[in-house]
Formats: sequence, structure tokens, C-alpha cells
Amino acid sequence: MKILVTGGAGFIGSHTVVELYKAGYESIILDNFSNSEKAVLDGLTTIIGQSVKYYEADINDAAAWDKVFTEQQIDGIIHFAANKAVGESVKEPLKYYRNNVAATVLMLEKMQEHGVSNLVFSSSCTVYGQPDALPVTEKSSVKPANSPYGNTKQICEEIISDTVATEKGLKAISLRYFNPIGAHESALIGELPIGVPANLVPFITQTVAGLRGQLSVFGDDYPTSDGTAVRDYIHVVDLAKAHVSALALLLEQKDKNTYYDFFNIGTGKGSTVLEVIQAFESSTGLKVDYAIKPRREGDVTAVYADCTKSNEVLGWKAEKTLAEALADAWRWQVAVSKR
Ligand code: NAD
Ligand code: WQD
Repeated sequence: MKILVTGGAGFIGSHTVVELYKAGYESIILDNFSNSEKAVLDGLTTIIGQSVKYYEADINDAAAWDKVFTEQQIDGIIHFAANKAVGESVKEPLKYYRNNVAATVLMLEKMQEHGVSNLVFSSSCTVYGQPDALPVTEKSSVKPANSPYGNTKQICEEIISDTVATEKGLKAISLRYFNPIGAHESALIGELPIGVPANLVPFITQTVAGLRGQLSVFGDDYPTSDGTAVRDYIHVVDLAKAHVSALALLLEQKDKNTYYDFFNIGTGKGSTVLEVIQAFESSTGLKVDYAIKPRREGDVTAVYADCTKSNEVLGWKAEKTLAEALADAWRWQVAVSKR
């Protein structure tokens, strides 16, 4: 079975290529390397013991889709390629609506044209905003997005669900990721934030590596156990495995003309920022230099997943601990620093 992995050179995509290989699928990567490096392909080759076919192309390019679909018999698509910086999306919303929304529409048109029916879409827990109750189930309401980035995920989920409803053969699953962290245990692939990281864990590892002066902890006056905000941090390898489970579920629907569902992909456990720092320190034996700073605009107090539906329907469960994820993130940081 051939699976087209858009954004397959990126953080989550590259780890998913590894898990697809382990499950017996062949991956074809479609990536323009706008937020990844070709070196990822070398890391993948070493991990899986063979090279991965890739197309260096833009998902906004109709001819590129035609080329891939003509040259390859694609059984399904996992669509990671998108821009993901929340702050940038506020400053450059059209970039996000073009790359995340317009390109997804083009992909769906090209899937119809070439008769490709199975799609797994990268969505986000950001669609829930600050939930009314915790943990968040898939029945929790989708709140008005607080950034253009978040809005692109809501809009794409709706576009996909509307397209499935036309009963022209599309079957799709949206996975709502909570906070992906960590790296492959080999330290050959991982997250490559460009510039100053916006996310907590890469900021921690870069601070400890001496690349950043000090970590700012954004707010200690939230109504949580220690005053810092709560998130559900999931190891990227567990997240990657969820895509393999989603794909398998889609392929089981082969006799149906239509199928759409969405799932929370998290650990089910919330951790405060200070708990993440403490877990990092105890799993690596290294100190994190941090200072409490004001809240970051747009941050929610707490969000973590109820994963009952993904446990029961996808047959998937996160297995790795926060400590393992942080140790792997650190091993990756050390490997990157040596380059
Ligand atoms: P990433 O930036 O590491 O990977 C995205 C990949 O897509 C990169 O390799 C980039 O070069 C490629 N890409 C971007 N635009 C492209 C285009 N026009 N044509 C071809 N390739 C293109 O991001 P990631 O963290 O792996 O995220 C993957 C997906 O998961 C995204 O859709 C993101 O919105 C979603 N997501 C990420 C997180 C997170 O915290 N990392 C959380 C929830 C959802
Ligand atoms: C986690 C916690 C910060 C950095 C973002 C996107 C979301 C999704 C995942 C894509 C928060 C605190 C952070 C720092 C800190 N991405 N923090 N100091 O904001 O939960 O989610 O990534 O879909 O859409 O918004 O993740 O890692 O930025 O922050 O104190 O230097 O760490 O305030 O409480 P977030 P994050």
C-alpha cells in the first residue's frame, strides 16, 4: 500500500513515515522543504534501512498533484503540510488561508479527479479553545478560533466533512493533536524550529543547550495546581502511531462510499509548565534556568484530552511517558547541537 505523506519531511510527518514503514506501508513524501531540511531524508534512510521516495513540490501546485497521482498508485494521503506558527498567522493570515485552506481544497479536488479516497488530516486541539469542562471529549464544542491558524484547522475540518457528505467516495479522519513533543529515540529525526522557538519544550532544550539565555514561564497566576498553565504533552512517536491506526480504520471502510470521523490524540494527562520543567530536570539531571513572566496573550488556562474514543474506535493509546518524551527531546537537541 502506498501512502502519500504531505509534509513528510516535517516534525510529525517524518516520525509517521517511520511508523508507516514498521506497519508495512510504503510512504511517498510530498514536501517543499519550506520548514524542514533534506537531512531528514538521510535520518529516515538510516532508521528504516532504505531510502524514502519523495517529491520536492508545493501542495499549491496543481501540476505537482497530477504528476504524483499519475506516477504513483496512491492508496491514501496523510496531510501534514501546512504552516503552524500561531503568532505569524495573526500577522500574515492570507499566507495561512492559502497554504492551509486553499491547498487543502486543491488536494481534495485532485483526489476526486484521480480517484484517491482515503485521507487522514492533521487537526489540532486548538479547535476547542478554552473548553467549558475538562478533559475535552470529541463532543466538546468547537470554540471560535483565537487565531487565523486555529481557524484554518476548523475550516479544513468542515471542508473535509462537507466533501465526504457528497458521497463521491472520500473517506476521511481528522486527528486533533494535543501538544506533540519529543523525538525518535535514535535522535536521527526530531523537531527543527526555525529561529526562536514558540513552543515550550524546544525552548527548554535550547535554553539548557546554551542557545537561549533563560526560559520565560508565561504566567503563574492561573487557577491550576501551581499557577502555571496545563497542557497534554504527547510523544511524537505515539502521535505518529495514531496515524497508522487511523489509516487502518479508513481502509477497513472499503465497502462504504462515505466515512468521516475525528479523534482526540493526547495522553489524557495534563501537566503544568512547572511540572514539565521538573520532569525534564529529573529525567536528564540538568537544571533549567527559568523566570516567571506575565501570561502570554491568547494562552488558555488548561486543556487536556479525553482519549476514550480514540482508545475504543481507533484501538490506539499513548504509551510513552512525559519523562521519556523529554529525555528524547534532549537527546535530539544534543544531536542537533553537534551538527
Ligand atoms: P512541520 O513544519 O515540522 O512540518 C510541516 C511540513 O510541511 C514541513 O516539512 C514543510 O516543509 C512542509 N510544507 C509546508 N508547506 C508546504 C507546501 N506548501 N508544500 C509542500 N510542503 C509544505 O510541522 P509539524 O509540527 O510536523 O506539523 C504537521 C501538521 O500538524 C501541520 O498541519 C500542523 O498544523 C499540525 N499540528 C501540529 C502541531 C504541533 O504542535 N507541532 C499541533 C497540532 C497540529
Ligand atoms: C505550552 C505551555 C505556554 C513557551 C501551540 C499552539 C497549538 C498547537 C500546539 C498546532 C503554555 C507555556 C511556552 C515558553 C512558556 N499547535 N510556555 N514559555 O500554546 O499549548 O499550543 O502548539 O496546532 O495550536 O497554540 O503550546 O508549547 O507554545 O505552550 O511558559 O517559552 O507552555 O504559555 O502554557 P500551546 P506551547
